[in-house]
Amino acid sequence: MTTAMTTAMTATTSTMTPAKDVPASRPPRWPSRHPLGHLPAIHSDPLAFFREAHERYGELVSARAANVELTTVANPDDWQKVLVSELQAYSKVTRGYDKLKLVLGEGLVTSEGSFWRRQRRIAQPAFHRRRIEAMGETFSSCAAEEAMAWRSAASAGATVDVAEAMMALTLRIVGLTLFSLDIRGDAARVGKDLGVLLHEFSRVTQAPYPWPEMMPTPANWRFWRSRSRMRTLVDAIIAKRRASGEVGDDLLGMLMGTEDADTGERMADAELRDEVMTMLLAGHETTANALSWTFWLLASHPEEQAKVQAEIDAVLGDRGPTMADLARLPLTTAALDEAMRLYPPVWILGRRTEREVELSGHTIPAGRLIFLSPYILHRNPKLWDAPDDFRPARFVPDPETGKVALPHKLAYAPFSAGQRKCIGDHFARSEAVIILASLLREHSVVARPGQEVVPEPTLTLRPKDGLPLQIVRRGAKVA
Ligand code: HEM
Repeated sequence: MTTAMTTAMTATTSTMTPAKDVPASRPPRWPSRHPLGHLPAIHSDPLAFFREAHERYGELVSARAANVELTTVANPDDWQKVLVSELQAYSKVTRGYDKLKLVLGEGLVTSEGSFWRRQRRIAQPAFHRRRIEAMGETFSSCAAEEAMAWRSAASAGATVDVAEAMMALTLRIVGLTLFSLDIRGDAARVGKDLGVLLHEFSRVTQAPYPWPEMMPTPANWRFWRSRSRMRTLVDAIIAKRRASGEVGDDLLGMLMGTEDADTGERMADAELRDEVMTMLLAGHETTANALSWTFWLLASHPEEQAKVQAEIDAVLGDRGPTMADLARLPLTTAALDEAMRLYPPVWILGRRTEREVELSGHTIPAGRLIFLSPYILHRNPKLWDAPDDFRPARFVPDPETGKVALPHKLAYAPFSAGQRKCIGDHFARSEAVIILASLLREHSVVARPGQEVVPEPTLTLRPKDGLPLQIVRRGAKVA
């Protein structure tokens, strides 16, 4: 992070509430003479755009993208207002969620109001701590299978595309744990379709005209074809369960079997499909990215990898990890948390102001698009020392209090916060630590000299063009 960003961000403080009778000001605004405003810059490199906006203007800045005024927010007190204390002033009525509905339909991520509340109430018990404990065996056995594949790669001296491997692994785990279904055979196809959907999602969200997805272009053909294949897969999951004649004791069973408390009705097939699609995508893509970035950061910081492996050795010896080990793997967990600080899988959240609001002492009108980027928040130099450095130790709990000393309770929000916080946070962190411990117990991940990995901000933050890493059996020499 540059000194300019440090200075500009430090200039705006959360205590800038305007004195009584003094008209509150509009936020600083980054002007543009381009007819499309900053849209081309956002389109070509959104991470650079948001970083520069905050470097120049501090923690709250407005800008124009085509005919849309947006405000981006990097102050944790403002995050608290938007996501927690004043959340009723903000909605998800944005173009991003509108286009996301093309992929996910009206599921938990995209819906709002009483419909969202009902769906969340039905799904919540599937993510209860006790349920996640019971999934531990599946996390461990799937991770152990992946460790076997890494053994073969290591003895053949081959590189592994870790991003692709993590996508397939987390997809399989979501299928088994939430839908009691082994979708291993479909993983490669789903991975490709998902890649297409996410890539095209960015394009249709940022187009300067209203219905870019309706044009008869090859890109749109790819988009609709991938969506149709994903829907076919989801329909097959539901049909298979219906045909079995049993509701089942997993998330799918809860979604199918729970009656609405008010109407006594069960979910219609279309509602069910949107929820399954949402869980399938939200439940694996994000965790896979979190794992990929952790492996990348450990590969490019071998000294940190060695510390994590020392912890794993001390706790596990020669056996694989279980859920009972998680509390004894604080550094492994911290490496994951620090990776999600630097590369938050959900790198941006959008909201719309439903009334005039106040943020950092500035007045924001109704109807404004608000961006909250965990990527920017997590690198805010006002909150974090050396914000661009990979330092897992920041997330190791204090041995006395058992708590991590965060600079602000909302300085770190990879899973968002408030009532729309991720339903799968505990699921994802438990699964990811078990996978890290299983794979790093036997192997080291090694980057090529000079290797660079560039983040690609689509709906999620993925390593662009995958993550090829050399897998080396521990104790063996690097070729
Ligand atoms: C490292 C992994 C993950 C990260 C970083 C992550 C992050 C997030 C974030 C930031 C949100 C808020 C999105 C918004 O406001 O639009 C969210 C929502 C959600 N996530 Fe996750 N997630 C992860 C894993 C999972 C898993 C494993 C599942 C399910 C198995 C899941 C299911 C959901 C659902 C259903 C929502 C919508 C919740 C609601 O609004 O009620 N996520 N996630």
